[in-house]
Amino acid sequence: MKLLNWAETFETGNKTIDEQHIGLMSSINDMYALAKEKKGQAVFAKCCELEKKLVTHLRDEEEILSKANFPRTEQHQNTHEQAIHDFRYSNTKCGQTCLTDCMVPCLPELAALLVQHIVRDDTDFISHLQTTELSDRKH
Ligand SMILES: [Fe+2]
Ligand SMILES: [Fe+2]
Repeated sequence: MKLLNWAETFETGNKTIDEQHIGLMSSINDMYALAKEKKGQAVFAKCCELEKKLVTHLRDEEEILSKANFPRTEQHQNTHEQAIHDFRYSNTKCGQTCLTDCMVPCLPELAALLVQHIVRDDTDFISHLQTTELSDRKH
């Protein structure tokens, strides 16, 4: 069983953004699966990888939005700063528990954070992207 499931309604229409969103969700699902197998070291490695993937994604997305002249780019960047802050806060609070007793208390928070980013925050630019060449979706 997966923790997060991708749905077509999450698609922004931009290939890079959508592929990265799917990749972020898979990392959470991998962490979930590894946690169930009690592979703490591997969970920790995945979590570090997820943070890097998230940072790269947010940067790439901001670049795409600025290319698309999205009018709320600045506000959107604020949601990204918040997301990174929340991610690191959850990790710090968690204190690398996965390495010692194979528990991953930060996982539900990280999953919720990703869902907020993809489903709540990023749906804000879908209709704007559709008016540009940066979306595969036709308006
Ligand atoms: Fe995103
Ligand atoms: Fe975003």
